Amino acid sequence: MKIEVLFSPVQADDLFFTGKTTVVIDVLRASTTIINALTNGAREVVPVGNVEFAVKVSGGMFGGQTLLGGERNTKKIEGFALGNSPSEYKKEIVAGKTIVFYSTNGSRAIVKAKYSGNLFICAFNNIKALSKHLVKLNQDIVILCSGNNNLFSLEDSVCAGSLISELMKTNKENELSDSSIGTLVLFKTFGKDILKMLTESEHGQLLIKNGFKDDLKICAEINNTDVIPNFTGNVLKVLR
Ligand code: MLT
Repeated sequence: MKIEVLFSPVQADDLFFTGKTTVVIDVLRASTTIINALTNGAREVVPVGNVEFAVKVSGGMFGGQTLLGGERNTKKIEGFALGNSPSEYKKEIVAGKTIVFYSTNGSRAIVKAKYSGNLFICAFNNIKALSKHLVKLNQDIVILCSGNNNLFSLEDSVCAGSLISELMKTNKENELSDSSIGTLVLFKTFGKDILKMLTESEHGQLLIKNGFKDDLKICAEINNTDVIPNFTGNVLKVLR
């Protein structure tokens, strides 16, 4: 299969993704948080492209089974039940709930890729499980890094390289774009100590400054879950 990496959502428009198999990555922290929420029993996560829409969507849902989650400038949004720390999405809080979720880069990247034929969410937490599934699927893959305010982000690119490195273990014949080869080199350089890489990254530094240092540890955990968030019918659910 052919594997291509986009370093930022601005590299393609919405229709580019039509029918494609897409993997969205936002290691710090949206994809890690979504994976944690679903691992802890959330019914579904509804990614939205702006805060106003999040409020509107949650207003139309009944029964107290819906929580608003996400961040603006890394911090919990006023009126939201949850921020964007993976540790907030505990079993006792999210089990059985629908989470309407907005984040600066991550949820917007997911919404951008909504026309994909298959759309999965990836972080260091679920690399192995996702790689196994992609091998079974045997389709060309686009890896969309959410980036940092439309710019390159080190952590998403290293994570893309980690996923590609896992895929190459099964099939050395995979066809790699230049961007894919670049992420493999980054993974070779930074993959030995993911927490250090996250700590030194620009967004990692901002999170530490804003009091979210502990989140980096969760984001650095490798293969701690088999959960693959799968976008279907405009919501993310655990792939069964
Ligand atoms: C995002 O989507 O931009 C990030 O998840 C921001 C954050 O770390 O909260």
